[in-house]
Amino acid sequence: MVPKLQNSILVEIQSGESEKNLETCNLIWKSLLENKMDRKALLINLGGGVITDMGAFSASTFKRGIPFLQIPTTLLSMVDASVGGKTGIDFMGVKNILGTFTSPLGVWIHTPFLNSLSREEIQSGFSEIVKHGLIADVELFENIESEFPEVMEMDDSLEAFVIRSIEIKNRIVLGDPYERGRRKLLNFGHTLGHALESHSFTTRHPLNHGQAIAMGMVMESFLSYKSAYISIQELNRINRVLKYLFPPRPISEKDYDRLYEIIQNDKKNVSGAINFTFLEGIGKGIIDQTANNQEILEAFKYFNSILDIS
Ligand SMILES: NC(=O)c1ccc[n+]([C@@H]2O[C@H](COP(=O)([O-])OP(=O)(O)OC[C@H]3O[C@@H](n4cnc5c(N)ncnc54)[C@H](O)[C@@H]3O)[C@@H](O)[C@H]2O)c1
Ligand SMILES: [Zn+2]
Repeated sequence: MVPKLQNSILVEIQSGESEKNLETCNLIWKSLLENKMDRKALLINLGGGVITDMGAFSASTFKRGIPFLQIPTTLLSMVDASVGGKTGIDFMGVKNILGTFTSPLGVWIHTPFLNSLSREEIQSGFSEIVKHGLIADVELFENIESEFPEVMEMDDSLEAFVIRSIEIKNRIVLGDPYERGRRKLLNFGHTLGHALESHSFTTRHPLNHGQAIAMGMVMESFLSYKSAYISIQELNRINRVLKYLFPPRPISEKDYDRLYEIIQNDKKNVSGAINFTFLEGIGKGIIDQTANNQEILEAFKYFNSILDIS
């Protein structure tokens, strides 16, 4: 591929989470240095969340920060990774452990990129769109409900969901850029979802991020119901959408203890208490909630119990 921009260089990076590390950053920094890029150079990050996170991190540290532009090409990077100013790479096996909070010059969205994504990749991003509806925009959630079953098809409505979703994340992040409070709304579904996702990597059937977070959202909605924040009708509506879009997998009883261990080590926890974001209704999240071992166990059991109900 020949770069069309004048005075530009092309740095090509392999895709995949395994490339999101210091070695790849070295290649980027080396290339910038060898090509005498100054502080006014612009780094354009074209790719999925791995590229936008790592490119942003490389730009934010090179010469104490050069401007960068995000051009996300996956649904997840459009609605989540490119928005909010979190840059990062993995280190010593720990995900996103090195990073900065730095905003791009802009995020350019071109939805035709989505045409070549697999269903799993679309699912991954779509679960964050559903999450944005659940925590902050009842209308978005209702639109998703009303577009069943074609809701993830590539058409104008998917584009509308992308735009709405970015607006929601942006609004939340602008109010709390460093995650001291309201930004934690975005963690809905992720306390239990992340544990399922990490654990699944040690098995022969890894879950994609979207599936894991959707399962997490079902269980965290259940915990919200148990805390009397949402009604049984709301819980059932949420389950209907999530079960249809992200066909769930049962959680094996023999994994309960290991999952609980992972949850206890979650970096969102404070002073030993497991930190959750719950729902106070569809379209309204509530941060800094907690649940004990017994309640979490109940959520796993509840999850398995609804699998055969259509
Ligand atoms: N910074 C944040 O706030 C934030 C938020 C969420 C996720 N993330 C990060 O995002 C990353 C995951 O992002 P991702 O799911 O985009 O992963 P990814 O970048 O690995 O992309 C997934 C796959 O899709 C391919 N791909 C990219 N664009 C394509 C296209 N248009 N057509 C076909 N294939 C295409 C990639 O080559 C890759 O194989 C993780 O590293 C995660 O930590 C960051
Ligand atoms: Zn997520």
